[in-house]
Amino acid sequence: APNGLAQTPPMGWNSWNKFACDINEKTVRATADAMVSSGMRDAGYQYVVIDDCWHGKRDENGFITADAQKFPSGIKALADYVHSKGLKFGIYSDAGRLTCGGRPGSQGHEYQDALTYARWGVDYLKYDWCSTGDRNAQEGYAVMADALRQSGRDIVFSLCEWGTAKPWLWAKNTGNLWRTTGDIWDSFAKNDMAHDWAHPVLSIVDANEPLWPFAGPGHWNDPDMLEVGNGGMTPAEYRSHFSLWAMMAAPLMAGNDIANMDETTRSILLNKDVIAVDQDKLGVQGRRIVQDGDKEVWVKPLAGGGRAVLLFNRGDTPATIATDADHLGYPPKVRAKVRDLWAHQALPNWTGRLEATVEPHGVAMFRIDPS
Ligand code: GLA
Repeated sequence: APNGLAQTPPMGWNSWNKFACDINEKTVRATADAMVSSGMRDAGYQYVVIDDCWHGKRDENGFITADAQKFPSGIKALADYVHSKGLKFGIYSDAGRLTCGGRPGSQGHEYQDALTYARWGVDYLKYDWCSTGDRNAQEGYAVMADALRQSGRDIVFSLCEWGTAKPWLWAKNTGNLWRTTGDIWDSFAKNDMAHDWAHPVLSIVDANEPLWPFAGPGHWNDPDMLEVGNGGMTPAEYRSHFSLWAMMAAPLMAGNDIANMDETTRSILLNKDVIAVDQDKLGVQGRRIVQDGDKEVWVKPLAGGGRAVLLFNRGDTPATIATDADHLGYPPKVRAKVRDLWAHQALPNWTGRLEATVEPHGVAMFRIDPS
């Protein structure tokens, strides 16, 4: 978007995947504290975003208020607290009359709401698409984009339209990121689908991958927030989820309980080598270059001529997956430093071939930097 924000994919935390409507200021404060103490903030997770269900009623002039039971200190105080921790603060609304959780939406109140958010110190707005009737998505999002611009504050604008109106074709100058699919579901394989509105990791990956040409600095495809640490997948599957999101230059919005995460979860969300792939300045979304049954090879070009390479095994048994310099677009005798991003090890004397036996539903991930 022309606001100049989100030159790399936004990183942070969002309340929805773990807490849904059971959200309050205590949880948000505890999360902000834990973002600092766990090292998440220093690893780049910046935005603390409250999703749906923070709202109270509109006041007699139409200004939105917070639910006084859940947020007795008010949103401004909460934003101030989050800022005092060196983090940024985000909030949620909807382009229709009601949010997906049935709270007041912003339709007809866009400029008033943007002004309220700016006064509260909001740095990020996720803007949903429930109860929009026959509203045109491109127009609906353009109104709030303009309202945010007029508010005078730098606010990252996150479109949550689920891909129906193909926002990748028109939202580059409207928002900083746009959802490409329906909601993520904390499971891995396509046959894990419990509801038709819930999408396991593999469904999301297959929908988001072909959209790689539309992503770039300031405007990203959003395959939805992370489920790492929420309990529905194995550690291997969560490593794959996180690695695939990084390869796809996806926003990295943690969706778990940061204040109570175990060591496995922490080691995934805090893998700085994988985060660096996501946040690479070139801002090119990686893509799948080989799909051979359950064996896949993904490549993401990096600034300085490097490449991130993902060997991904979708299958239920271990698989040996290989690629080489030629496939990756390098001359056969290329000299490069190669690092294994999950073993956290440099590979000595690279000969131009990458091969790994990859666990079921798992990945091996490398970074090649030509010398
Ligand atoms: C929609 C969005 C979710 C979440 C909920 C809140 O389903 O896609 O990410 O914001 O609404 O009600």
